[in-house]
Amino acid sequence: MIPAEIAPKDRLIVALDLPSVDAAEAMIARLGDSVTFYKIGYQLAYAGGLPLIGKLADKGKKVFADLKMHDIGNTVTRGVESVARLGATFVTVHAYPQTMKGAVEGRGSSNLKILAVTVLTSYNDDDLHAAGFRLGVSELVEARAQQAQVLGVDGLVSSPEEVGALRKIVGHQMSLVTPGIRPAGAARGDQKRIMTPGRAITAGADYLVVGRPVLEATDPRAIADAIHAEIAQAIG
Ligand code: C5P
Repeated sequence: MIPAEIAPKDRLIVALDLPSVDAAEAMIARLGDSVTFYKIGYQLAYAGGLPLIGKLADKGKKVFADLKMHDIGNTVTRGVESVARLGATFVTVHAYPQTMKGAVEGRGSSNLKILAVTVLTSYNDDDLHAAGFRLGVSELVEARAQQAQVLGVDGLVSSPEEVGALRKIVGHQMSLVTPGIRPAGAARGDQKRIMTPGRAITAGADYLVVGRPVLEATDPRAIADAIHAEIAQAIG
């Protein structure tokens, strides 16, 4: 079942993976009222982009602060409290129990939602073993999804291929947010496991994160509109 309560337009999150606030503001102006949801990650956040969260929120846009926090619980709690005050809608943390617990505490009853990154999609079983983990990727993703749900985390970030399995574990209580989306015919860049917007929605994703296919397009707004149309069609 595809939950219908999220407006189709809000399901596309455009990743503002750009080097400066000026470049981000120019892209936001080009996309205009076509895009309602943006993601700010390391590149822009550390280039002075955090105040954009409040600016965008004031214009009625939603912002996903992709900060992938991980620290002792108390530090995560205080950091998340600050992100909530900036006016973000989503913030990411790594899916370690103390970190997730601290983040849920920091979010409190604010409008901010916590998304946990289960296992980074660039990791395979060998990478996990080299980092000292006993479990392989699929077992660790499953274990962390269950822990996230028990701890009250609001959603998970995953590759589109994991969405179906995660939906079975967490039901519809949690939002599933997926990067690795490529409209048919778009360059895949460094993404290895990709899906089209329509297939990702049908697989059970709630939100799709898209960066380069929109940012590098000759007409970014036309691509965003085409993705919206594909999402609306997949929802039916
Ligand atoms: O340009 P592209 O559409 O590949 O951008 C995807 C966005 O999603 C980037 O901001 C990237 O950092 C992020 N992301 C990802 N894979 C993950 C987590 C986040 O591609 N596992």
